[in-house]
Amino acid sequence: MQLTYYGHAAFQIDTGRAKILFDPFISGNPHTADVVTADELSPDVIVLTHAHGDHWGDTMDIARRSGALVVANIEITNYVQANGHDHVHPMNTGGASNFEWGRLKQTYACHSSSFPDGTYGGNPNGYLLEVANRCVYAAGDTCPFAEMAWIGEDHAIDVALLPIGDCFTMGPEDSIRAARMLRPALVVPVHYNTFPAITADIGKWKALMDEAGFAARILSPGDVLTM
Ligand code: NI
Ligand code: MN
Repeated sequence: MQLTYYGHAAFQIDTGRAKILFDPFISGNPHTADVVTADELSPDVIVLTHAHGDHWGDTMDIARRSGALVVANIEITNYVQANGHDHVHPMNTGGASNFEWGRLKQTYACHSSSFPDGTYGGNPNGYLLEVANRCVYAAGDTCPFAEMAWIGEDHAIDVALLPIGDCFTMGPEDSIRAARMLRPALVVPVHYNTFPAITADIGKWKALMDEAGFAARILSPGDVLTM
């Protein structure tokens, strides 16, 4: 199983059976400029944490071309259907669904959610993805929240993707608190250094994680993590 990071909060999991693309903000993402274009992505599944433009991104274009199943909260899947793509799987916070390639659970995220055109996007979410005895937690845009301790107790997380850019989500120090609750085998930082408002000293962040005793891996856009 491989995880390819595209920068900001966009990444794709290739299970060997299915390509699962999360938050495909590709066009206009300065991190993806020399790495990938939206036209080059043909996922089987697109998973969305929320409707903000830096996550929604190229969803409609990629979904229409590839025929991908779009998994998101029901407000987002309604919007996708209203835009003419019917292959959707609506969910809501706390619910899990089994697919032929694995299992997805929508977790709580403390943030907001609206589409670039202002349409209400429902509540934001994170996801637990369980595939072939591996567990990936994508926190989505959020601050740390106390129930992360339950997620950590109930799941042996192999990789946790945590936002660390501050301003719109948790920052570096708070990501340590999140890791203490989640206890993942590996932390991957996302949602930083894309825009001036979320500039982070990633070396300092790594040092904080090291000091707290957590394995951390900084992925550059285009890097592939094999699990
Ligand atoms: Ni957001
Ligand atoms: Mn965001």
